[in-house]
Amino acid sequence: MNKNLFGETDAPNRTTGTLGRREHLTFRGNLKKGRHGWLRLTPAYSLHIVREILEQCGPNEVVLDPFSGTGTTSLASASMGIPCHAVDINPFLVWLGNLKLTIFDDGTTTALQRLAGRIVATLRRRTDSKQPWVPDIHKIEKWWDASSLDALARLFERIQKTRATAEPHVLDLLNIAFCRVMIQTAHVSFAHQSMSFKKPRESAQLPLLRTMEDPYDAVWTVFLDEVSHVSAGIETDTPSVDARVFQGDSRDPSAVLPRSDYTTVITSPPYPNRMSYIRELRPYMYWLGHLTNGRQAGELDWQAIGGTWGCATSMLGTWAPASDSGVPFPKFDRIIASIAEEHELLARYVHKYFEDIGQHIENLGRVLCSGARCHYIVGNSKFYGTLLPVEEIYAALFEDAGFGDVTIETIRKRNSKKELYEYTVCATRP
Ligand SMILES: C[S@@+](CC[C@H](N)C(=O)[O-])C[C@H]1O[C@@H](n2cnc3c(N)ncnc32)[C@H](O)[C@@H]1O
Repeated sequence: MNKNLFGETDAPNRTTGTLGRREHLTFRGNLKKGRHGWLRLTPAYSLHIVREILEQCGPNEVVLDPFSGTGTTSLASASMGIPCHAVDINPFLVWLGNLKLTIFDDGTTTALQRLAGRIVATLRRRTDSKQPWVPDIHKIEKWWDASSLDALARLFERIQKTRATAEPHVLDLLNIAFCRVMIQTAHVSFAHQSMSFKKPRESAQLPLLRTMEDPYDAVWTVFLDEVSHVSAGIETDTPSVDARVFQGDSRDPSAVLPRSDYTTVITSPPYPNRMSYIRELRPYMYWLGHLTNGRQAGELDWQAIGGTWGCATSMLGTWAPASDSGVPFPKFDRIIASIAEEHELLARYVHKYFEDIGQHIENLGRVLCSGARCHYIVGNSKFYGTLLPVEEIYAALFEDAGFGDVTIETIRKRNSKKELYEYTVCATRP
C-alpha cells in the first residue's frame, strides 16, 4: 500500500451500503464514449449526470464550468448545441479541453491516419541512432522498462518532427494518441483513488506488449491502434456551437471569463480529499512540456484548490487563514480543531480548501445572470474519525454569498471509506 505525504495509506475497497457505487455515475462511464474517453482523469465526473442536468436547460442558455478538468461539461454542452465556457488552472487540461471542443475539418481523420502510418513506417526502418530526449521524471525507470521508454522516446521525437509541416490539430491528435500509449505502457495502476505503481512483471496491461517479440514494434503498433481510437472520437460527440476552456484561477472567475451572463453552472470542484491532479497527470505533463521539474509541479499544485503535491505541502506549513475570512458554517471551527488534534497540517489543508472555495463562491455571482442555477457535484471526506460534511459547508457558503433555493441531493456512495458519498449542491443566484 502507498503512504502519502500526510502519512496516510490508500483506502482499501469495501462493499457498499444501500446507495451503491453506481459506476455509470463515475468517470468510468465516460471511458468508451468518443472524445470523452480520450484521456482519463480519475476525478472526472459522469457524463450521465451532466447530460441529465443539460436536458432541463431551456433555449438561450450559456453554461459555465469553473473547474473544467477533462472538459466533460463543456463537451457535453457543446455537443448538445448549448454554448459553454470553462476554466481550469492546469495548462495541460486547458489544452486537452480545447482540443476536445474543436470542430475539425473533414479531412482531419485521413490526414491523421496517413501521418501516423508514415511516422511508424519511418520508425520501423530504424535509421535513428541518436539517443532521443526523455522527460526529467523522477525515477523514470519506475514508470517504463528500458525498451518501452526508448520506443516511446523515438515515437515522441518523430511526432514532434512533423510540427513544421502537419496541420496543428493533427499534431495535437497525434500527441493524444502518444499519451494513450505512454500511459498504457507505464507500470501504473488506477485501481485506487489515484494512480499507484505496479511491479513491472504485473504491469503487462497490453496483451500485445506481452506477445510481440519486438518490444519496440509492440509500442508502435499500439500507437497505430490508438490513432484509430482517437480518429473514431473525432466523429462522435461533435461540438456544434462555441465552447472554450480558459486558463485561470476560478477563485475570481471574472478575471478570466469574457462574459458575465452565464445561466447555468455545472461543475465538480476539487474535493477536499487530498487528491492531486498534478500527481496523476504528471506523466502527460512532463512528456508534453507542461512541466520540466518537480518544483514546478509543486508550485502549480499550490495554486490549485486542494493541491498537496511536492512543495505544496511544505507551503501549507506556513499558510495562515486570512483574518477576515471566517467559513460561515457553525461547526467549522470545531471540525478544524478536531482534525488538528490528530494532524495539524491536515487541519490547515481543510481550512485553506474552504477559504479558497468560499472566495470562489463569493466571486461567482459576478459572472452569472440573475436566476442562474448552479449545480456543484461534491464529495464529503473523513479525516481521522472526523467527518467533513462538505456538502453542508458548500450549502452554507452559497447561502452566505446571497444565493437562494439551496438544496442538497445524494447521488451515490463512493468507493472507499464508509460514510463517503457524492452529492449535488444546487443554488440560485437571486
Ligand atoms: C474534480 S476536477 C474536475 C473534473 C471534471 N468535472 C471532469 O469531468 O474532468 C477539478 C478541477 O479543478 C481544477 N482546479 C483546481 N483549482 C483550480 C482553480 N483555482 N481554478 C480553476 N481550476 C482549478 C483542477 O485542475 C481540476 O482539473
